[in-house]
Amino acid sequence: MDFTLTPEQELFRKSAREFALKELEPIATELDREHRVPFETLKKLAELGYLGMTVPEEYGGIGADMLSYIVVMEELSRSCASTSTAFSVQNSLCNTPLVEFGNEAQKRKYLPDLATGKRFGAFALTEPESGSDAAGMKTTAVAKGDYFILNGSKRFITSAGFADIFLVFALTDPAAGNRGVSCFIVERNTPGFTVGKEEDKLGIHGTSTCELFFEDCRVPRENLLGELNRGFKVAMITLDSGRIAIAAQAVGIAQAALDEAVKYSKERKAFGRLISEFQAIQFMLADMKAKVEAARLLTYKAAWKKDHKLDYIMDSSIAKLFAAEIASEVADKALQIHGGYGYIRDYKVERLYRDARITRIYEGTSEIQKLIIARELLKE
Ligand code: CAA
Repeated sequence: MDFTLTPEQELFRKSAREFALKELEPIATELDREHRVPFETLKKLAELGYLGMTVPEEYGGIGADMLSYIVVMEELSRSCASTSTAFSVQNSLCNTPLVEFGNEAQKRKYLPDLATGKRFGAFALTEPESGSDAAGMKTTAVAKGDYFILNGSKRFITSAGFADIFLVFALTDPAAGNRGVSCFIVERNTPGFTVGKEEDKLGIHGTSTCELFFEDCRVPRENLLGELNRGFKVAMITLDSGRIAIAAQAVGIAQAALDEAVKYSKERKAFGRLISEFQAIQFMLADMKAKVEAARLLTYKAAWKKDHKLDYIMDSSIAKLFAAEIASEVADKALQIHGGYGYIRDYKVERLYRDARITRIYEGTSEIQKLIIARELLKE
């Protein structure tokens, strides 16, 4: 068993860390306070090829492996989880399903612009009344001539405020449940499609999250992604992979919280000594470190299995579950070590505490990850 990254993966880590320190660290607090999406920074990520990380070179990407993508995700998340969220939506939830399920014409039409950041993407599965029970969606798509007519709405769609291309899931055979779902590529300017208001969230303030509305929205037949009525599988397989990136985001946030806690404990004095000299603090730091390392290894293992074309459904859910849970716990401990200073906006740890929370919710809650793990464990 070899736990070292390849020279290429190490290079990705180094360049992502340098980018994060130079471009993200100085603006992360401002984005958080102003609720501002970092377009200029996303453009810089695009210049490095990072918006097409796993897209093959023939479609404008840089053709990196999954583990390289995961390492970059972790490093960006250490500095700014808002930026890394937009980065992951583009890579995991838009590019990947187009690469894996798109036909040649769809790949040629959409991937070069997405991989180079000329256009942005979003993934629209969740609805006002269906989240964890994704198959409970109500949005319909009815075939009519050369078009499908979409009616319904979507909720909590990340990057929706600025995305140009939306992968939208809708019922094409409502009586068939999850075997009657199809996936459509919907362009922003399609008549009958509107993007609703921005949600005001607890954390990741530098991201955009909106509702979507479809009223007799005519989508050309050629925009069906994958097979008719097999869209639920497109969603599930996309999320299996996407969850590894959310695990990496959680690892990055947790690492940042640990870094802040170590630094603060070596500066702050109490009872005449540095607080790092107290065993109560040392034990907290040791626990945090052990959990971050375990979460990182689980995340890398899931990515490695995807790269080696091994079944990784359970690994991805284990990584997401464990990393998301420990990110909240580690951020909470880091805040505790900061005492009153951790509770005020001047300290990075306050943002990390809020940003960590979403990783237990999006791309499948912790409870859904447990359900998937149990199903995999108990299946014949
Ligand atoms: N990987 C691959 N295939 C899977 C799968 C997985 N993890 N889970 C289920 N499937 C397949 C099954 O094999 C089955 O395939 P066949 O039709 O070939 O038999 C099909 O999907 C249906 O499976 P189930 O009957 O098990 O499906 P279900 O309706 O019981 O749902 C679920 C299973 C795991 C609960 C699923 O609904 C789920 O993952 N829910 C969570 C949804 C989610 O993560 N939402 C996040 C929204 S996206 C987001 O957050 C992005 C954003 O913008 C922030």
